[in-house]
Amino acid sequence: MEFTIKSGTPENLKRGCIVVGAFSDGSLSAAAQALDAAAGGALATLLSRGDLDDKAGSTLMLSLLPGVAAERVLVVSLGAPDALDDKAYRDALSAAGKALASLPAKDATVCLADIDVPGRDLAWRLQQAARLIASAAYRFNAPRKETPKPTKGVAKVQFLIADKAGADLKTAVAQGAAIAEGMALARDLGNLPANVCSPTYLADTAKALGKEFKFKVSVLDTAQMEKLGMGALLSVARGAHTPPKLIIMEYAGGKAKDAPVVLVGKGVTFDTGGISLKPAAEMDEMKYDMCGAASVFGTLKAAAQMALPINVVGIVPATENMPGGGATRPGDVVTSMSGQTIEILNTDAEGRLILCDALTYAERFKPACVIDIATLTGAVIIALGKIPSGLLANDEALARELLDTGERSGDRLWQLPLWDDYQELLKSNFADMANIGGRTAGSITAAAFLARFTKNYTWAHLDIAGTAWVSGDAKGATGRPVPLLSEFLIARAAH
Ligand code: BES
Ligand code: MN
Ligand code: ZN
Repeated sequence: MEFTIKSGTPENLKRGCIVVGAFSDGSLSAAAQALDAAAGGALATLLSRGDLDDKAGSTLMLSLLPGVAAERVLVVSLGAPDALDDKAYRDALSAAGKALASLPAKDATVCLADIDVPGRDLAWRLQQAARLIASAAYRFNAPRKETPKPTKGVAKVQFLIADKAGADLKTAVAQGAAIAEGMALARDLGNLPANVCSPTYLADTAKALGKEFKFKVSVLDTAQMEKLGMGALLSVARGAHTPPKLIIMEYAGGKAKDAPVVLVGKGVTFDTGGISLKPAAEMDEMKYDMCGAASVFGTLKAAAQMALPINVVGIVPATENMPGGGATRPGDVVTSMSGQTIEILNTDAEGRLILCDALTYAERFKPACVIDIATLTGAVIIALGKIPSGLLANDEALARELLDTGERSGDRLWQLPLWDDYQELLKSNFADMANIGGRTAGSITAAAFLARFTKNYTWAHLDIAGTAWVSGDAKGATGRPVPLLSEFLIARAAH
């Protein structure tokens, strides 16, 4: 999708569609007023009939409005004027994006960025608009016998604003577009089935990204991981026929001496549970168990595309978790790269086993901070539902920074406590720790396990089990938390 910014009013623009906003009390945005005046009040008359629902994000498509040069006018509801907040603005933009994605028109002008959202400036509104419109047009290219031709969907979107566009506004739009592209990569990787998206496929994707954006990519195989003593990571791969990979991407946009932000993404390309086998229902969704990894790929792509002046390292431990003759058994004891031993009481708690060795490996980059991203626990969905991702951290300043970034990006987090009191739930009679903590506080004990491997740096853990994909009729990856992580890097790169 191609984005441009233009200043002026919309009535004389010859476009496939003009998008304007209206409020539930019948009042019109400035751009909608300009169209209404050109059409001799026709727009206000049409709206007064009540055809547009009050709820923010409701839409009404109008054609052949007299006095208006565009073929169509899409009116989007902004809800009640006094209730206009981030969510109403974002709902309006997503709805507009959805409508434009199925329109038989080539180009559109969107006049929603001038709407006053409390506490948000024009750069924020444009960045969000570009990201939401571009990601509403995402389609997974499913392999089918007859591939439908994509004849519909607006490819060129112009943002119309009243004032002149400076360089900062162009940057904001470019950032929104780059984040949407990063999300699309994360969604594609998530949506691909596990018989395609294997650890080797992820490694090849990393190499292709490194080639395109000129950053360093290394891939470690089983023998190299054995040499490093990654007994926890390798214990998960034992039952699989596909070889595991440890993928390392180093984007060096900052100065050589700048400590990098290290992102570690869980890359379980399929989680059967292993010998602690999962029940059959919805097990297909465990192809999404590499969405943490996918978000690292997507964020690195976005950062590289934005040419952010910051150093970022992405580390992805990638493997399947399969049962089999060679698979790890409940009760097996393994030694992690850190030297700490682990009694594996449940082979389905495999994410923490691959992450702990990747987190130890992260130390060699002398990180400014480490953030791991993982579809780690079903328990986080019980605790928080599918709205925010779970956040746990060993540093309050980093936690605060991420929470704020979540609000700004709209890709939200909620923090859970990581008190030492939880550590005793992990005690084992046969090793330094067990890999599960019993029935209570499942998301916290998972993070408490990881905390034993992150003592040497500032660290945060994002549990995205509830936010990385949606189930049901609209089943598909969401691309979260690429917006959050990209925004985090943008802000870090700015100081
Ligand atoms: N990948 C799963 C977590 C998961 C489950 C994500 C359902 C999304 C939906 C993870 O590897 C897992 O199986 N966790 C176990 C941990 C338990 C054995 C302590 C869980 O959540 O049940
Ligand atoms: Mn599991
Ligand atoms: Zn898993």
